[in-house]
Amino acid sequence: MTGILDGRSAIVTGAGRGIGRAIAEALAAQGASVVVADLGTSISGDGADTAPAKQVAEKIGKNAVAFTESVASPDAARTLVETAVKTFGGIDIVVNNAAILRDAFVFRANPADWDAVIRNNLSAPFYLTNAATAVMRDQGKAGRGGAGGYDWGRIVNIVSSAGLYGNLGQAAYASAKAGLFGLTRVTAMDLARAQITANAVAPFARTRVTDIIQPANEAQKTYKERALKIGAHHVANLVTALCAPAAKGITGQLLGVRGREVFLFGQPRPVARLEAGTPEALAGDLTAKLGAQFTDLTTDLEAFSTEPLV
Ligand SMILES: NC(=O)c1ccc[n+]([C@@H]2O[C@H](COP(=O)([O-])OP(=O)(O)OC[C@H]3O[C@@H](n4cnc5c(N)ncnc54)[C@H](O)[C@@H]3O)[C@@H](O)[C@H]2O)c1
Repeated sequence: MTGILDGRSAIVTGAGRGIGRAIAEALAAQGASVVVADLGTSISGDGADTAPAKQVAEKIGKNAVAFTESVASPDAARTLVETAVKTFGGIDIVVNNAAILRDAFVFRANPADWDAVIRNNLSAPFYLTNAATAVMRDQGKAGRGGAGGYDWGRIVNIVSSAGLYGNLGQAAYASAKAGLFGLTRVTAMDLARAQITANAVAPFARTRVTDIIQPANEAQKTYKERALKIGAHHVANLVTALCAPAAKGITGQLLGVRGREVFLFGQPRPVARLEAGTPEALAGDLTAKLGAQFTDLTTDLEAFSTEPLV
């Protein structure tokens, strides 16, 4: 069987269930070998279970191997990359998908929860990108990927509309995801010469996380009802497309996927300017001259509560 990702070796974190599982299966279906990395932890990151990663790896078959440690340490990231290299001969694709949630209003949140979310959702993707891209650059120079030069390298970071719009009670999660988008931009720039791409994908899909949303208002109720209709395979389809040979020129982009709809997000750039006077004059001018272009406090749940295309 030939696929568009034949010969590639991939690591997908959080691949034991939900969106990560769909991504691992879709990459494998296109011929990639996959390290299915999943700690088997709860939504909040408590506990561990080796079963989810092992089951997914077993279902994929000989082109998959399970990795069941937490990915949230530099040592684990190095071991994970070594696992890919030893088992499949290299590392070409990294999908940073694993994440946890510990929501609380900013005035009540526990700093220890903040630290755990930032370590899992932002530091872990950095550790893995750091460990994997060093190897990718070397193997590219060593001739992997054929005579035309190495252009298989792909980093895909799973972010969230919560990190772009904000959402009530998600200080740590939204900050980690906004940070992950910043990491994506710098990764794209640092690796452009090595022809390794880095893109961010904000997904929407039914998983155990959408299943437990407790709607606090009408907008959230509608969001949940509609989110429950969206399969994770649509996210996997976009991630697989970004790993395809035809996507080698796409880097530093921020995409969204919600069922069959794919969005290209704009990235923050100045939309207006003025020349500053004294603080008092400036305070007045900010509202008078720029107020019409201020960004309102629409949450991501409100912005994406429209009927999905499934
Ligand atoms: N479901 C959605 O609609 C939605 C919306 C926005 C963003 N996302 C993002 O998509 C990604 C997947 O979300 P999901 O809904 O499938 O979540 P999920 O909770 O169903 O799955 C996440 C997986 O990551 C694993 N994991 C967590 N921390 C880990 C660690 N340190 N090491 C190894 N594995 C770890 C968990 O064991 C779990 O299997 C996340 O990055 C999430 O933030 C999802």
